[in-house]
Amino acid sequence: MRLGHTCVVGLQWGDEGKGKIVDSLVEHFDVVVRYAGGANAGHTVVIGDARFALHQLPSGILRPGVASIIGCGSAIDPPLLLGEIESLRARGIAIGDNLRISDRAQLVFPYHRRQDVLAEQAALPGGKLGTTARGIGPCYADKVSRRWGVRVCELYHPPRFTARLSEIVAHKNAYLTSLYDFREPFDAQALTTEYLGFAEQLRPFVCDTALYLSELLRAGRRVLFEGAQGSLLDIDHGTYPFVTSSNTGVGGVASGAGVPPRTIQDVVGVVKAYSTRVGEGPFPTELHDRIGDDIRERGREFGTTTGRPRRTGWFDAVAAGYSSMISGPTHLAVMHLDTLSGLEELRVCVAYRARGRVLNSFPADTPLLNEVEPVYETLPGWTEPIGHCRQVSQLPAAARAYLDFLSARLSAPVSIIGVGPERDQIIFAGREG
Ligand code: GDP
Ligand code: IMO
Ligand code: MG
Repeated sequence: MRLGHTCVVGLQWGDEGKGKIVDSLVEHFDVVVRYAGGANAGHTVVIGDARFALHQLPSGILRPGVASIIGCGSAIDPPLLLGEIESLRARGIAIGDNLRISDRAQLVFPYHRRQDVLAEQAALPGGKLGTTARGIGPCYADKVSRRWGVRVCELYHPPRFTARLSEIVAHKNAYLTSLYDFREPFDAQALTTEYLGFAEQLRPFVCDTALYLSELLRAGRRVLFEGAQGSLLDIDHGTYPFVTSSNTGVGGVASGAGVPPRTIQDVVGVVKAYSTRVGEGPFPTELHDRIGDDIRERGREFGTTTGRPRRTGWFDAVAAGYSSMISGPTHLAVMHLDTLSGLEELRVCVAYRARGRVLNSFPADTPLLNEVEPVYETLPGWTEPIGHCRQVSQLPAAARAYLDFLSARLSAPVSIIGVGPERDQIIFAGREG
């Protein structure tokens, strides 16, 4: 598998195993770019006994010699980002000239996090989104409002920043007090001092990352775009309103990293061999039975960022097929195939049934999606563990048939297969013999 400039993107509801895929591909790249999301992401990389959870930093930061870029489409939470940098440095990871942060990225402030939590607490029945409480929605909402968003570059003009924050904090306090049970107003001056302190710590990393990236591309460097969340959490294409607030799909790369769309030569669409979702929202193939619990336990399906148990279900080829249609993967990475070992039979949802009709495509209407009944195809399972397999030919015939089925449904070849959490528990199809 030879890859050009590549985007690694989740085709489900996040947590597909993007961190592991980036880690396994990064040796072929010089640059890794995050283009969407922020501290809501949690990308796990397991290297021997060490387990890393990356939130705002690109997973490439773990590999010496790779340039890591956080593009303008990301939301930057300075205290959390500085904490992440410190904790990695304490574990021996060098972070200096290898990290760049966009001067155009939006900043997350504590009032965003508070607003996120208060809005969730006050939501009417059925209205809770189940966010990660990282202030992501309020931050992107302020960005789009144009009035209340603050970009990284503004931190470096203290008098202007001070005046703006004073106006914004007054507005936020009034807004939160009028809507919610909010009794501890933010102190604009204290917040300004705190953020100007962060500004100095971040200064070495901040630049025009679009310009930097264009220079790297011109110099022939190979670039990997690391998606966060999943295509079904995309603000436009996902299960709105139960989505995150950025363009998490491949479409977000051009705007969130600042590159011409034609830069992307390959797309690795990452899926789990089943489905998971954390937080609220429609999940047609969700299992509320022993099989669902089994998958959660065996797959260790607990959130990397929040620790919440993930909801589990059968593979939904209608939903992932829709993501695939939009993202156009040149390759698929099917993760957690090992987690399905031991199940007698496997189901894959190939259509929905609702209101007397059969739906072959993913509907926009969320209430309808809550009503649909999956139409399943049943495939034989396999009993043997597969964590030791390193070639497709070593997989049980039923596992290979299952992968072929997913490949046909998603119209892309399965080029990578995850057979366990460890770095080497991976199969690159086509590298046989
Ligand atoms: P990401 O957000 O897409 O990077 O995914 P997360 O890191 O949030 O969740 C994926 C989880 O599955 C992590 O705990 C990984 O260590 C683990 N994982 C990744 N690939 C595999 C696999 O093929 N098999 C198993 N058993 N675990 C995997
Ligand atoms: P990675 O990059 C899984 C979900 C939240 C919630 C919804 C909105 O690790 O795959 P937000 O805090 O973004 O406003 O929450 O989106 N969510 C994720 N689910 N993986 C993620 O990231 C997620 N980031 C956000 O659980 O349902
Ligand atoms: Mg995750």
